[in-house]
Amino acid sequence: MTTEPNASRIDAGARLLVTGGAGFIGSCYVRDVLARHDGTRVTVLDKLTYAGNRTNLAAVESDPEQAARLRFVQGDIAEPGIVGPLVADADAVVNFAAESHVDRSILDPEAFLRTGVIGVHVLLEAVRAASAAAALAGRPPVRFVQVSTDEVYGSVEEGHSREADPLKPRSPYSAAKAAGELLVGSYVVTHGVDAVVTRGSNTYGPYHHPEKLIPLFVTNAIDDLPLPMYGDGLQRRDWLYVSDHAGAIDHVLRHGTSGETYNLPGSAEMANRDVIAALLERLGKPWSLVRTVPDRPGHDRRYALDGSKLASIGWRNRTSFEDGLAATVDWFRANERWWRAAKSGDWDAYYERQYGTRLAAGRAVARVVRPHET
Ligand code: NAD
Ligand code: TYD
Repeated sequence: MTTEPNASRIDAGARLLVTGGAGFIGSCYVRDVLARHDGTRVTVLDKLTYAGNRTNLAAVESDPEQAARLRFVQGDIAEPGIVGPLVADADAVVNFAAESHVDRSILDPEAFLRTGVIGVHVLLEAVRAASAAAALAGRPPVRFVQVSTDEVYGSVEEGHSREADPLKPRSPYSAAKAAGELLVGSYVVTHGVDAVVTRGSNTYGPYHHPEKLIPLFVTNAIDDLPLPMYGDGLQRRDWLYVSDHAGAIDHVLRHGTSGETYNLPGSAEMANRDVIAALLERLGKPWSLVRTVPDRPGHDRRYALDGSKLASIGWRNRTSFEDGLAATVDWFRANERWWRAAKSGDWDAYYERQYGTRLAAGRAVARVVRPHET
């Protein structure tokens, strides 16, 4: 390990603990890191909630060289007895684990707090203890990356959020994420923990759980089911392709400065209506599937990030929205078994609770916004 400016804080062959590594972005991170064949060893700790899926790591597990560098542990980041020994055995921890869906945080917030606040605290305590032991042995501290979100800034009507802007979370999901970040900052200041925070933009790509906008609408459209668009559909998000998000997190792990936070912007700020039109076009499905339904309570109108700090440490996204969306739609078309399994079990009960009354009140809507709709 070296500490020269711009040099990587993480050596080839490092031992990474990736929490939440069976989820959407975490599994992309694990697949991409192991596919570099640079000797990195990864332990995934994942609770396998409804959103976690061991088959997201199948590509790694079917390659003997990569599989030999992967260990999978099923468990909860809020359990100190599980977390402590795993962190003690790592050079760095990248924490993806979270309950990640805003709508579910409105229905059932408790798990968001347990994982997003208590879980982060348990990880930080383990990192503090392991770093103290490393110091006694003359080794560098365990580096901690907290994967957070642009949603901690709240709704940004205009301009672009910078890292020093105030946090104004407006959903239980984003409030829990903000609390996790604040704990990380407190451990850097009070205990000298080596930690960085990333605030990523709305992410999309293969293996995305079908509860989120793009995969829900793609998979519903494949089945000619209605597409429940909240409100006027003019909410704006900046879309980040999943391998760019994973790559940016890895870049911050290696090149970020402890105590700093980095925005990870996407490549395309778009209104939801335009995202929906683009995915329908790729699928060859009609706009008539779209229903305007009653809006999400507290719905953030817009997120937008300033990415100059990330650019200053040398990261650039590689995937345009056009290419990323085409790859995503094609992946969902080719992987029906994966998403039909994700839409089984408790899915129908969730879908009915989230959309039953909304869709009953829903109505068809023109592709182009009429003045009375804005
Ligand atoms: P996801 O819901 O697909 O995956 C979360 C993973 O964490 C799952 O595998 C789940 O089983 C696991 N998990 C949940 N609680 C756990 C616990 N207590 N202990 C261990 N594992 C647990 O989420 P995602 O979309 O991959 O998001 C990953 C991270 O990125 C989250 O922290 C999220 O807040 C953040 N993020 C997501 C986006 C996005 O658009 N998806 C954008 C910015 C930031
Ligand atoms: P989502 O994928 O849930 O991400 P986030 O809430 O974290 O931004 O939603 C993206 C946008 O799509 C957001 O403005 C809400 C909207 N949306 C719908 O209109 N209908 C839906 O069924 C879902 C899930 C989202």
